[in-house]
Amino acid sequence: MRNLTEENVTEAVLEQIRAKDPRTQQIVTSLIKHLHAFVREVEPTELEWFKGIEFLTRTGHITDEKRQEFILLSDTLGVTILVDAINHRKEEGKTESTVFGPFWVPNALEMENGAHIDRGPENERGAPAVVRGRITDMNGKPIAGAKIDVWQASDDGFYDVQDSNQPEMNLRGIFTSGQNGGYWFRTIRPEAYPIPDDGPVGDMLKATGRHPYRPAHIHFMISAPGYEKLITHIFVEGDKYLESDAVFGVKDSLVVDFKANTSKEEAAGYGFTKTPFYEVEFDFSLKEA
Ligand code: BEZ
Ligand code: FE
Repeated sequence: MRNLTEENVTEAVLEQIRAKDPRTQQIVTSLIKHLHAFVREVEPTELEWFKGIEFLTRTGHITDEKRQEFILLSDTLGVTILVDAINHRKEEGKTESTVFGPFWVPNALEMENGAHIDRGPENERGAPAVVRGRITDMNGKPIAGAKIDVWQASDDGFYDVQDSNQPEMNLRGIFTSGQNGGYWFRTIRPEAYPIPDDGPVGDMLKATGRHPYRPAHIHFMISAPGYEKLITHIFVEGDKYLESDAVFGVKDSLVVDFKANTSKEEAAGYGFTKTPFYEVEFDFSLKEA
């Protein structure tokens, strides 16, 4: 293979791909075809191509165990939600999934239903909220003993792992559904926050006229023996970023009303010293594995 030209270089490269594993063959072949098609369409200058390489190099250099810039890149280009949509196709009766994000941590504390997941010294800095609902199968039959792993950012928009002022494992907890599939916990109403935008992904967002914000949400990962694991969020109805989530994760079925309750007695019953507090109800239905 010599004297390759703009016309025949793609074929020549493809002929060299002889993976033993058929899936590897398919993936690498398709990647080369699409990458060459992209270059033919864009006709980058050498400087532009080098800038692209430099962008990916910076993406690698800023990545460590705490920060995964490649995932952020996949998220902000809409690839993560596309992979999620392909792997968890929408089905009647099944709660929709959405992006996982980089801020889950293993081994959050197992908590009793009703516990407050804000472990701060003054756990009512944000607006107090109660979240409750049921875990069921796709026919509405309760699932007892499901593990409900929840995590969220503080009212100023940071996860505990990003913010040394928060106690470890703040705003995280693992709950277990009861006999009727019920779960509940106390927290603060989440607020919209920007994804980390001080690296190459932030530069890309700026260069393309985009903001880095995610609408307010609480993350859930729900697992029960015999059922597919569900990774999803609930979003706060009315948030101004619902139409422009920087990572494209919003689905109508996941947007819920955080209802304001001004009763001082009811607030006190939950141990809240502030009103209004917010009440949310959301049921999750899992698909059999
Ligand atoms: C998150 O919601 O935690 C998140 C998701 C994708 C990228 C960055 C943050
Ligand atoms: Fe988040």
